[in-house]
Amino acid sequence: MKLLVTGGAGFIGSNFIRYYFKAHPDAQIINVDKLTYAANLNNLSEFESRPGYRLVRGDIADARLLEDVFDTPLDAVVHFAAETHVDRSIANARDFIHTNVLGTYTLLDISRKKRIGRFLHVSTDEVYGSLAPGDSADEQSSIQPNSPYAASKAASDMLVRSFWHTYRFPAVTTRCSNNYGPYQFPEKFVPLMITHLLEGKKLPVYGDGLHERDWIFVEDHCRAIDRVLEAGRAGEVYNIGFGHPVPNLEIVRRLIRIVGASEDLIDHVADRPGHDRRYALCTTKIRRELGWEPRVGLQQGLAATVEWYRANPAWVASTRSGEYLAYYEKFYSHRDASLAQL
Ligand code: NAD
Ligand code: TYD
Repeated sequence: MKLLVTGGAGFIGSNFIRYYFKAHPDAQIINVDKLTYAANLNNLSEFESRPGYRLVRGDIADARLLEDVFDTPLDAVVHFAAETHVDRSIANARDFIHTNVLGTYTLLDISRKKRIGRFLHVSTDEVYGSLAPGDSADEQSSIQPNSPYAASKAASDMLVRSFWHTYRFPAVTTRCSNNYGPYQFPEKFVPLMITHLLEGKKLPVYGDGLHERDWIFVEDHCRAIDRVLEAGRAGEVYNIGFGHPVPNLEIVRRLIRIVGASEDLIDHVADRPGHDRRYALCTTKIRRELGWEPRVGLQQGLAATVEWYRANPAWVASTRSGEYLAYYEKFYSHRDASLAQL
């Protein structure tokens, strides 16, 4: 398979590339990434000189860039690139609309014109909005996004749906719950709590901390994407989740116990505006149809994640120093690259 991966220098994209090369050693991957603040080339340094891997720095909303990239024959597109942090979308959603909506449209448009045989759109459970206790969203549930981030992802999902309906463009959408694991930018909940714990800092829990998320270990998500890429039906949506939503406070308490710190560090801070109370997914479809199951339990996954952050302080420092942004400059932009070599 020759894949175009977008956003492969971010958290899930880089875990996916690592997973995919391991599972399919002969694969070829072109990674188109704008290298925003959320990207980190250290996530992929082990592949820099690997034959069959190529990074192209660029924006998925740039049709000319995509034209160049699509000059090479591709089997499938796996679309991760997005602005992803809810708090940033609350402060200013412009980049979210640019990348998640216009970027997805640009990518869909050229993928259709180039007759790509498979397009996997990576979406989120947040498009279903907040669910009452006991409820869970299946793939037919209504889309009720509540944050500007979720709204921009819902808009991209609707574009994907329209391309299938209108052109029979062979796209499939996955909607996964909250991920955690290695290489996650430490503004997100789990790595933020871990890095604060390792540094003895307070743990900022929004509101009462009883908001529930269905945490899944990133490698289980990557395996699900691989499975959907292989056997998911075009035009369909597949929910992906662990299956046990837990309150944020429980995650914080588990992390505190793993690190061996004190619960006195918990600091209830002002709540996020419009904060969704509960996400929960019905994942029967992917389990029954594609035989996928998560393998990593919550305690095991959290312990492995703490271990990774403990073992990689230089990576954490790099996300904060901005030094890695300068490091990017040693990489060419697509206009300097010889795309014929891709
Ligand atoms: P991330 O923020 O860690 O990484 C996003 C990547 O996209 C970065 O490398 C960034 O440089 C790149 N990017 C941003 N704008 C771009 C543009 N215009 N052109 C090209 N590249 C661009 O995100 P993540 O957590 O890895 O999420 C990846 C995907 O998975 C997103 O689509 C997100 O909505 C979805 N998702 C994430 C989660 C989660 O818990 N993190 C859960 C479900 C779904
Ligand atoms: P986050 O990682 O931002 O994911 P999302 O909002 O997309 O689900 O946050 C996960 C949960 O953790 C969410 O309920 C908000 C909460 N949270 C905190 O309590 N404190 C924090 O510092 C952050 C970043 C999040």
